[in-house]
Amino acid sequence: FADAATNVTMQQHKVDREERAAILGKHAGYRGCTIWFTGLSGAGKTTISFALEKTLIQLGLPAYGLDGDNVRHGLCKNLGFSKHERTENIRRVAEVSKLFADMGIISLASFISPYRSDREEARRIHEEANIKFFEIYVDTPLEVCESRDPKNLYKKARAGEVKSFTGIDSAYEEPTNADLVLKAAFETEAECVQRVLQLLYEKQILP
Ligand code: PPS
Ligand code: MG
Repeated sequence: FADAATNVTMQQHKVDREERAAILGKHAGYRGCTIWFTGLSGAGKTTISFALEKTLIQLGLPAYGLDGDNVRHGLCKNLGFSKHERTENIRRVAEVSKLFADMGIISLASFISPYRSDREEARRIHEEANIKFFEIYVDTPLEVCESRDPKNLYKKARAGEVKSFTGIDSAYEEPTNADLVLKAAFETEAECVQRVLQLLYEKQILP
């Protein structure tokens, strides 16, 4: 597994530790939960998750964005992109997210998580600990993701330079029972964030 995580890019948070610390406990009551974003590479998972993280922090609610590109620089740096390694990636992250949520944080997980069984296991890990888990499908068509290609990975995958790339030569199993579906190709980033916030109000996570 040593140093198998290639083609991953560090993603910058919009809030720092001081900002986080300043708001912890501002609103009374436990609101820990995991919001799990799944979708193709380039679908908008990181963008929506980190924008939501920023909004929640500004509202005075503790939130933390766990992101595939970032986690693969540390916790999961020994994992690549085979089916087996992705399963282990999702398992580790689900466990960490559960701990964050247990601590009262609204944990935002943005991972391709292409296999239904892995997402179901992530949900099970949370439900077993009596922690709320919401699956959000960032439903952006492959053509749109490929035309955006922010990291040039689709281009490399088509050229055979990146192997087992999701949507090209590795499967993506669409969610069938997501708690929310975001059509990020047609809705703006702000609209997507708003729709997740609406869900969180309905589920009584937000005050
Ligand atoms: S997974 O499938 O859930 O374990 O993947 P994840 O941990 O979310 O990591 C996805 C990011 O890794 C980069 N990358 C790849 N993605 C898919 N397939 C292959 N082969 C691959 N190689 C590198 C890519 O930047 C993904 O980030 P996003 O944000 O999804 O584009
Ligand atoms: Mg991303």
